[in-house]
Amino acid sequence: MSTETQAQAASDGEVNGGKQSLTVTDNRTGKTYDVPIEDGTVRAMAFREMKVSDDDFGLMTYDPAYTNTASCRSSITFLDGEAGVLEYRGYPIEQLAEKSTYLEVAYLLVNGELPNQQQLDEWKHEITIHTFVHENVKTFMQGFRHDAHPMGMLLGSVGALSTFYPDANDIKDPDNRYIQTIRLIAKMPTLAAFAYRHIMGQPYYYPDNDLEYPGNFLSMMYKMTELKYEPDPRLERALDVLFILHADHEQNCSTNAVRAVGSSQVDPYSAVAAGVGALFGPLHGGANEAVLRMLRRIGSMENIPSFIEGVKNGNERLMGFGHRVYKNYDPRATIIKKACDDVFEVTGVNPLLEIAQELEKIALNDEYFVKRKLYPNVDFYSGLIYEAFQFPPEMFTVLFAIGRTPGWLAQWLELVQDKEQKIARPKQIYTGDRTLDFVPASERWA
Ligand code: CMC
Repeated sequence: MSTETQAQAASDGEVNGGKQSLTVTDNRTGKTYDVPIEDGTVRAMAFREMKVSDDDFGLMTYDPAYTNTASCRSSITFLDGEAGVLEYRGYPIEQLAEKSTYLEVAYLLVNGELPNQQQLDEWKHEITIHTFVHENVKTFMQGFRHDAHPMGMLLGSVGALSTFYPDANDIKDPDNRYIQTIRLIAKMPTLAAFAYRHIMGQPYYYPDNDLEYPGNFLSMMYKMTELKYEPDPRLERALDVLFILHADHEQNCSTNAVRAVGSSQVDPYSAVAAGVGALFGPLHGGANEAVLRMLRRIGSMENIPSFIEGVKNGNERLMGFGHRVYKNYDPRATIIKKACDDVFEVTGVNPLLEIAQELEKIALNDEYFVKRKLYPNVDFYSGLIYEAFQFPPEMFTVLFAIGRTPGWLAQWLELVQDKEQKIARPKQIYTGDRTLDFVPASERWA
């Protein structure tokens, strides 16, 4: 039996008489505890019983980056990092990317199952009629500096929406939760396009509700003097697929932020704004922007060997490589790589593609990367596609945020209805001083 099969058999209760518990001996006291195993996990609170004396607080578990801690039960996204499997509500990402649309996937994530025709029509209609934002949102966004980063603008404006919909804090009401969910999915592209127009110094364009979701976004981004913007259907489809690939990814950094902030029972705009903030970082969604800047900095094929040496010496990271969960390949990266061909057929090949391909080839064969199981992730090729769309690098993570919005909302909806959840409040191991006597400044400085 392989180690995995043995572990599976144990969790199915097929070995050792089907016992589903962990026996722990606390060597400080010699006491033995039986800790139940449920769904392959033990409850951290079970360890609190393990004490050296009655007034001892009890044992805690220490897991600074949640590398081995489940923080929730979820039925939204399944991910097997070793096998490179990603499923939304049980449907493989490959099939959704090939046969579904982003709005249908958003419905699936939020509602738990695929819509029938009428449900999809209603869902699309609701989202379409909520694409406009209050005029004051526009004025508010115009107040940002001309060179403001669009992710910062998105973060601020998503948070600001909570002031436009004060009823959103009634999170116990399912109808209320539903309308805020619709509003957020609908308005995200509008805020994103306004942020782009702002940095370009161009007039903000209102949504065109005759267009589909991705086409309307492209229209708000690029429409100039023409009466009607006509998106290229191939680019529209490619953008839709990119949104699908980013729609959810279980308990990643930004989703964890949405859940942590949402656990205080704040409104969903404030919770999603926290997600946007977390996504901004270069180790998370900001990696797509960082990849493009890295490729531009490398500039030509002859600079690749010295760049790779620098990475191996620990001077910097190969952005777009590595993943906390995927240790074999990132299925989203495989789909994106294929999508590159479709986009470049319309836009022409990006000269940086050659550098990216060479980096990938070297890294996949180099012991440093192979040993650490570092493979291209979703962000390695998405930046090249986004550049082909003529999005500036600052917009790349904004595109990720549009795609991720239904995932954040599905996770938030699951959280607020989960009876086991409480306000998120980790423990700490205190390492500072204790019970010092305060000496007033006048005496300290004397
Ligand atoms: N380039 C070079 N070395 C790397 C890289 C990289 N991109 N990623 C990890 N390593 C090394 C790291 O230095 C460490 O080596 P050692 O054991 O010698 O100290 C080892 O691999 C393990 O790294 P880690 O930082 O402990 O791994 P992690 O699981 O904490 O980090 C990660 C995951 C994604 C933050 C990391 O791989 C990384 O920084 N990648 C580059 C940024 C990136 O592309 N992020 C996008 C992630 S996918 C989109 C998303 O969902 O956000």
